[in-house]
Amino acid sequence: MSSFSHENGILCCENVSIAEIADKFGSPVYVYSENHIRSKARDYLTSLSKPGMICFSVKALSNIHILKILADEGCCFDVVSAGEMQRCFAAGIDAGKLIFSGVGKSEQEIAFAIKSGIFSINAESFSEIERISKIAAELDTVAPLGIRINPDISIASHEYIQTGKKEDKFGINTEDALSKLKEISNNPHLELKGIACHIGSQISDTAYFKEAAKSMLRVISEIDALDLTCSFIDMGGGGAINYINEKEMAPKDIIEAIEDVLKERNELLVLEPGRSIVGNAGALITKVEYLKSSFAIVDAGMNDLIRPALYKAEHKIVDVNLSLKENKTLKVVGPICESGDYLSQESQLQADEGDYIAVLGAGAYGSVMSSNYNSRTRAPEILVNGDNYRLIRKRESVADLINPEINL
Ligand code: LLP
Repeated sequence: MSSFSHENGILCCENVSIAEIADKFGSPVYVYSENHIRSKARDYLTSLSKPGMICFSVKALSNIHILKILADEGCCFDVVSAGEMQRCFAAGIDAGKLIFSGVGKSEQEIAFAIKSGIFSINAESFSEIERISKIAAELDTVAPLGIRINPDISIASHEYIQTGKKEDKFGINTEDALSKLKEISNNPHLELKGIACHIGSQISDTAYFKEAAKSMLRVISEIDALDLTCSFIDMGGGGAINYINEKEMAPKDIIEAIEDVLKERNELLVLEPGRSIVGNAGALITKVEYLKSSFAIVDAGMNDLIRPALYKAEHKIVDVNLSLKENKTLKVVGPICESGDYLSQESQLQADEGDYIAVLGAGAYGSVMSSNYNSRTRAPEILVNGDNYRLIRKRESVADLINPEINL
């Protein structure tokens, strides 16, 4: 499930003691397993039976050192902002390996993507397509276009991370998209490169991927009927991981389900996994500051990991060093001045004041969603590989927070 396990009562990431890292870099601190990330990326890349692209969804974990590792494995990338594009460039990744998704791309972001030579801009509305065409015309060029379809599929996961129903803000309704295909393909400033969908996140049943693939098959068949072509079918991300008791989706099962529906097609199959590559590669290490009745008040809060507060997400929390002490049933809460600031409603832990505990499954949507609420500085990130570890993001300083407000 995760790359964190106890060896003789000592929690390790790969071969490195978590307590050693926390003692050295302080807490809270994010720790990632490089080999977990590499092996999940390989699972995806080697499961493709035909040419395709595995575009890691940068929003899940955008540290440039992680992006470099994934590029080294052969991944491409799904980005949703100029900021994420620039992170990829800082990691030495070529724009030709990037797909630009998102419902609210600004003019500047679109121009930046086109000028950089992006692989595809996956548009989510007709207004956006018009904007892309206008900017491409001004730049006297042709923009590579993907059309994100909203297939109207409802998945079983938290309502905030469902994205494929017709009432969601994402994508273009299938019928509407079909009615405009000819017009789009006649536009001299647009090159229709592909079609895309992403029905949501933390999906634990291949039936949803099959259903989405069938919708895409219908669209691609219409593209054939109009005598048009495109080069990729992008099925988005969404594979579930096991946090506590969830069914984890093997990349092979997701890909087989999709490839089965699309077996007659020769377009590149694109996938945009995020959570399933990095989720269980990471943990947030925090220290118990105080015990008060059934509360363990720790030094990480909702600003460090917002998933429990935002989605009522459940993360497994374990003691860093096991001893012969008895387990206590504890509610793990942070130092922030809100009752929603908790990391676990109920965990069985031995921890006493001063002990470290580890919040598992924190590699995806952990550090990237952290904030400076309560003027707290964001935690550092450490990457472990075998017996070695290195700092890949420094702890923020208070000066980092205050500097933009002085000498104006
Ligand atoms: N592609 C697109 C267009 C997306 O919007 C997303 C995620 C992905 C790919 C990657 O999905 P994944 O493989 O990671 O499920 N903050 C939430 C998750 C939000 C997901 C947003 N979009 C959480 O912590 O659960």
